[in-house]
Amino acid sequence: MAILVLGGAGYIGSHTVYELIAAGRDVVVVDNLVTGFQAAVHAKARFYQVDIRDRKAIDQVFEREKIEGVIHFAAFSQVGESMTNPLKYYDNNLAGTTVLLQSMVAHGVDKIVFSSTAAAYGEPERIPIQESDRTVPTSCYGETKLAMEKMMRWTGLAHPMHYVALRYFNACGAHTSGEIGEAHDPETHLIPLILQVPLGKREKISIFGEDYPTKDGTCVRDYIHVSDLAQAHILALDYLMDGGESDVFNLGNGVGFTVKEVIDVARGVTGHPIPAEICPRRAGDPAQLVASSEKAKAVLGWKPEYNRLETIVASAWNWHKAHPNGFGT
Ligand code: UFG
Repeated sequence: MAILVLGGAGYIGSHTVYELIAAGRDVVVVDNLVTGFQAAVHAKARFYQVDIRDRKAIDQVFEREKIEGVIHFAAFSQVGESMTNPLKYYDNNLAGTTVLLQSMVAHGVDKIVFSSTAAAYGEPERIPIQESDRTVPTSCYGETKLAMEKMMRWTGLAHPMHYVALRYFNACGAHTSGEIGEAHDPETHLIPLILQVPLGKREKISIFGEDYPTKDGTCVRDYIHVSDLAQAHILALDYLMDGGESDVFNLGNGVGFTVKEVIDVARGVTGHPIPAEICPRRAGDPAQLVASSEKAKAVLGWKPEYNRLETIVASAWNWHKAHPNGFGT
């Protein structure tokens, strides 16, 4: 029996496929390669270039392969773009998930682990954020991810469907093999943008706002290594296979770093001065996002390995140095 990974050519999806294969699992990857890269798909996974909205093609995958569980990463994930092109997000994220769930119900596949986000909370009511806290997304991206969670919940009330939604905080870092890492086009995430400076691809890093109510005025985020996120998906799948109830879990390290602190760590790791410039705030950025992941630790037995930001940034630097143009090199 195989695990079907939708979006397995993307950043977090490809790292999860690597961990699944390392754990001896049989893996099928579906990706339309719009934002993912075929080179990121592990050679031992069976790959189908299929769009999640294509019901016929998704049905064919379920007919050809013996699927025991699904991990779903196939979604657009840029907060800024979701604000200027919301219907693109409704179309891919919600219409795509509708098709996937329809096909799963039709083929009797009843377990799904789903990639959700801290953006489901919007402006947090307290730090650290717990799963039971208020969810009022401030972006269309967060809104679609929260709607996907709800879609699974209602589907599970009507059909034999069990789900785990994993709300990630700031995914970062790269696989220790150096074979895969973060590659977005355009890149909007802090750590890869910082590392573009020592790579000679940008002169300086912009700091979006220095007047937040935090210790140095810059935003605080909870940075979590992508391989730790990958492990959590496997644990969540095993939890469902063991008869676990549908549930939602935060995934973060539980420690917040300011933008300035992250830049300082990158200076230490790369040995480059990395000039920085204070710029206006970016719309929609909450001052602080830090997870309580106690529930994932207690229920899933999750134990993040990479709890030092230096190690996380060093793994990212290792990947970007060797692949300055991402999968294009
Ligand atoms: N930042 C800068 N300069 C940059 C880029 C980012 O100062 O050039 C700052 C941002 O303002 C933010 C922090 O660095 O304070 C982290 O920004 P990222 O864009 O790397 O990550 P976000 O916290 O905005 O986004 C992450 C995930 C999203 C998710 C969101 C939830 O990447 O998928 O958390 O709010 F939706």
